[in-house]
Amino acid sequence: MLLRLFNKKHKPNPIFGALGTDMHMHLLPSVDDGSKSLEESLECLRTLASLGYRRAILTPHFQYPRFQNKEFDIERRFAEFSQQVAQAGLDIELVCVSGEYRIDSGFQARLDQPAFLTFGNNYVLVEFSLNHPMMGVDDMIFDLQMKGYEVILAHPERYPYIALDGDRYQRMKDAGVYFQCNILSLVGFYGAECRRKALAMIDRGWSEFLGTDTHNTMYTRALVEASNDRTVQRIISHNQFMNKEL
Ligand SMILES: [Fe+2]
Repeated sequence: MLLRLFNKKHKPNPIFGALGTDMHMHLLPSVDDGSKSLEESLECLRTLASLGYRRAILTPHFQYPRFQNKEFDIERRFAEFSQQVAQAGLDIELVCVSGEYRIDSGFQARLDQPAFLTFGNNYVLVEFSLNHPMMGVDDMIFDLQMKGYEVILAHPERYPYIALDGDRYQRMKDAGVYFQCNILSLVGFYGAECRRKALAMIDRGWSEFLGTDTHNTMYTRALVEASNDRTVQRIISHNQFMNKEL
């Protein structure tokens, strides 16, 4: 019995077929802190397919100065990667390459000469620093919207300096900013506080999108476990998310 418990390992449950598209992952090999090789990316995409996902949007980091990716280079690498994925015959379609743009000290330059890689309805996926608040972030989001982009904030539950019941999140929702909680937050992958915030945000209808934020096989293994989690199953079956429009 003990051995069975110890070896307890779930099979992928294809519940994420209800979402259809995953729109947050770092599986373009060797451009950020995500997948390091083609093989690792293919393995992750295979697992995402087994979890029910039909389409994938890649979102490599654009972050100054850590990941100084350039849009033209990312697009070139994506074209090559798409061919390799097609040759591997995976049961998941690569929709496009976009990015996860950090609003940091390099972001104003991006606003001045916009070249954002978008997806769907001109969506730009942005994130904040995970540790430190930065002045002027809301103004930059507003500027982005004024330039005609729809803004999605990645993993809003992962910013410990923003209080769930303060006015900051509410102001962003009032300003039409979409939120995308991470599925793994729901099972405590990032800690109890992230879990609490993500559950509350979904409960409030704030998280229009869900993402996996897959970086490597550690994430896909955790997603397989999450696909067998009752809370995750309930959330997926009881809510409508905009992923399926992508
Ligand atoms: Fe990410």
